[in-house]
Amino acid sequence: MKKVLVIHGVNLNMLGVREPGIYGNKTLEDINKIIVEKGNSCGFEMEVFQSNYEGEIVERIHKAFTDKIDFIIMNPGAFTHYSIAIRDAVSAVKIPVIEVHISNVYTREEFRHNSVTAPVSVGQITGFSYFGYLMALDYINYL
Ligand code: DQA
Repeated sequence: MKKVLVIHGVNLNMLGVREPGIYGNKTLEDINKIIVEKGNSCGFEMEVFQSNYEGEIVERIHKAFTDKIDFIIMNPGAFTHYSIAIRDAVSAVKIPVIEVHISNVYTREEFRHNSVTAPVSVGQITGFSYFGYLMALDYINYL
């Protein structure tokens, strides 16, 4: 059974409240329910994690190594654009990461166009709302 960990980074606990014109009306709890249901229907063992703290995300990525997680689906939030620490944690554990963004970061401010985590990820899905997480699960399911 494939083990999939979904990591939500900084400010993503505010979904539903936060800029709904950009991020939609669903709360993180709503989205997690949809993700876990789909993951389970694919036969995956699912875990979800959210933190606003860079170091906690780094530690969760380290733990994924000992937990023998097969894939990480990660939306680091704003950490995407500057957290070398999260990038290095991904490189350290060598677990395939699929980076997801709810909004299309390339149609937004220039500072969102650079991801320091994308180069150590399998790929990036951006701009498809919460469906991006489901697309990532489809990719894992096809492997
Ligand atoms: C985001 C895009 C980031 O630029 C932003 O800082 C976020 C959310 C997204 O899912 O679209 O917090 O990762």
